[in-house]
Amino acid sequence: MGRRGARERNRGRTCGCTRRELVLTMKVLVTGAAGRVGANVVKRLAATGAGVRAMVLPGDPQAAKLAALSDVEVIEADLLDQASVDRACRGVSHVVHLAAQLVRGDTPVDRFYDVNAFGTLRLLEGVVRNGGCERFVLASTDGTYRPGDPPAVPLREDAPQEPADYYGTGKLLGEIILRNHAVQFDIPFAMVRFATVVSPEEAVRQFRLRSVRELFGRARLGRDSNIWQLFQGQPDLVRIVDDVVGADADDQMAVGLTGPDGEPWSLHMLDVRDAVEGVYRALTEPGALGGAFNIASAQPTCFTAGSEIIAERFDVPRAVVRMPMTWRLEMSIDAARRALGFEPKYDFASMVATADGTDVIPARVGTGGA
Ligand SMILES: NC(=O)c1ccc[n+]([C@@H]2O[C@H](COP(=O)([O-])OP(=O)(O)OC[C@H]3O[C@@H](n4cnc5c(N)ncnc54)[C@H](O)[C@@H]3O)[C@@H](O)[C@H]2O)c1
Repeated sequence: MGRRGARERNRGRTCGCTRRELVLTMKVLVTGAAGRVGANVVKRLAATGAGVRAMVLPGDPQAAKLAALSDVEVIEADLLDQASVDRACRGVSHVVHLAAQLVRGDTPVDRFYDVNAFGTLRLLEGVVRNGGCERFVLASTDGTYRPGDPPAVPLREDAPQEPADYYGTGKLLGEIILRNHAVQFDIPFAMVRFATVVSPEEAVRQFRLRSVRELFGRARLGRDSNIWQLFQGQPDLVRIVDDVVGADADDQMAVGLTGPDGEPWSLHMLDVRDAVEGVYRALTEPGALGGAFNIASAQPTCFTAGSEIIAERFDVPRAVVRMPMTWRLEMSIDAARRALGFEPKYDFASMVATADGTDVIPARVGTGGA
């Protein structure tokens, strides 16, 4: 169906009903449904009474996460395959687009663009061929902003988007493609720019020597690594850490990082439960339409404070390492507060404190949680 048909469908379905009634009328396609965020979004929407079609990569063993959820239709489709995406879009009224190529050490660079940019285009084409949708929610990332030397913090949504890696660039292209298609085909949309999303069982692994070595180990790959632009021209960062902690230090010890003048590195963490809430509000709140919203913890977590929490909770040694550069990424969530009524419930300390015994679907199943 063409442009006109999509517009009429969108207008026709904007009802004056309550949010709860609106959810009951929805048929939502959730892409990335076997992912960290996706499985929990599917669970939430199904529990709220929406019809849910959960899109998973063909053969993805992580789809097992969805087996226990009743009333969820699971469909296999690949964002690289237009025909399968078209089938996934057929008959849906809303789309939550969470599928993406995330940062893994060995991901070929072009895949970040194929999946995160062109995959989003294929999905939007699928929506247009379906005759439009009532709302399309795109998950984007704080990685579309530039971390590093302190910008004018905290970053609002109108801050310059200057991604420092292939992943962030692919996600930004996805945002641009969505805005363009939304204008061309009258697609009502909202975007959520997540901070680093962490499942409760993952929180306890943060700020450990192991994760620091992994991060800086990737920088050693130079241009073969997604993050080479961030750490370009820096000395061997693993070595700097090992010089402080000792090369044979226990991988589980806590490590805080600072910049050259001792200013702590910082980033926002986002508990997956708050990420789900952000998506739900972007999908249902009238004020979300046409907007992009930072979805993050209320305050950034400093690496020094995060490492203290880990050291205390798990009774492991802790070191602070002074790095030759600063990493600081602080986000304002004022827009999400205002337009969506979003208020995060968790900070890093409460994520760690509540890590046991939640009903959150874990980030990964059957793989030892890697
Ligand atoms: N995890 C984070 O820290 C973080 C931070 C900012 C933004 N985001 C965004 O949030 C969304 C959800 O992230 P997540 O943490 O759940 O990631 P995830 O890796 O757990 O899930 C992503 C899902 O996308 C699927 N996928 C990948 N390529 C695909 C393809 N070609 N076709 C169909 N499906 C494909 C994967 O199979 C996976 O299930 C993503 O869009 C991501 O870019 C995540």
